Amino acid sequence: MLTAPHDLFARALNMGYAIGAFNTSNLEVTQAIIWAAQKSRAPVIVQTSEGAIEYGGLHQLSQIIVSLAKESSVPVVLHLDHGKSLEIIKDCIEVGYTSVMIDASRLPLLENIAITKEVVDYAHSRQVWVEAELGAMLGAEGQKELRGEPVPVEVLTKPAEVGRFVEETGVDALAVSVGTIHGAFTGQEFSSFELVAQLVQAVPEVPLVLHGASGISDEHLARVVETNVCKVNVDTELRIAFEAAVRAYFDTEHDKLDPRKILGPAREAVQVVVEKKNKVFGASGKAD
Ligand code: G3H
Ligand code: ZN
Repeated sequence: MLTAPHDLFARALNMGYAIGAFNTSNLEVTQAIIWAAQKSRAPVIVQTSEGAIEYGGLHQLSQIIVSLAKESSVPVVLHLDHGKSLEIIKDCIEVGYTSVMIDASRLPLLENIAITKEVVDYAHSRQVWVEAELGAMLGAEGQKELRGEPVPVEVLTKPAEVGRFVEETGVDALAVSVGTIHGAFTGQEFSSFELVAQLVQAVPEVPLVLHGASGISDEHLARVVETNVCKVNVDTELRIAFEAAVRAYFDTEHDKLDPRKILGPAREAVQVVVEKKNKVFGASGKAD
């Protein structure tokens, strides 16, 4: 079923697990995410970036997700990932998104607070959940096989700023910069457990969101979801699985061209990754 995330986050925060949030821009990846969630019996967040919306068309892409979500036997949240303006947020809420992210992390603190508050006021009057970002995420989804670099300290989320940010904006969940980078980097490891602990201490009631989870080991992910990290975003690892399956198709002999034969195995490959992540995040079985 298509659902608002409020109760899902409350349970995840109480029970020490995280809901997987997976990016899509088409039918096959959306099916893979939702079918995996059903198999895992896990609640799931299907998210679209502004780029995905541009690619698929807001109405068309959201209708694919909403129709699969409505038929699903597990809770599915439709979320806008890294929304940059109130305009796109209004458009998404209009077509049925139950959760939105305002990412004004590129702006100075006071401006980030102002735009986030404006979004919160708008979304909350429509019962829509809001995630905002404090500190900044480096990299871009889809980058792979680059050397992992330590994240510069100036972009990490500052524990001293989070209390004020949450209080002044009224935001529901907070995306934090704690050492991960968008994209899957070889040699990248999550090691900022100390920073996460400080952030939890500063805002103990607020679910935290980990972006850039591709490339982070299962061991570290399983450890971080025991904290107040209640949502973990994965995109690049799905793209890598998708691409590998498409390449494998073209590497083998085939006598007939058929998009279904190319995309079907890619869909299966993505589904396998999502199932594995649900398990690592502790979300498997939490839909029941
Ligand atoms: O917002 C989306 C993510 O943070 C995904 O990051 O591509 O490193 O998995 P990733
Ligand atoms: Zn992100």
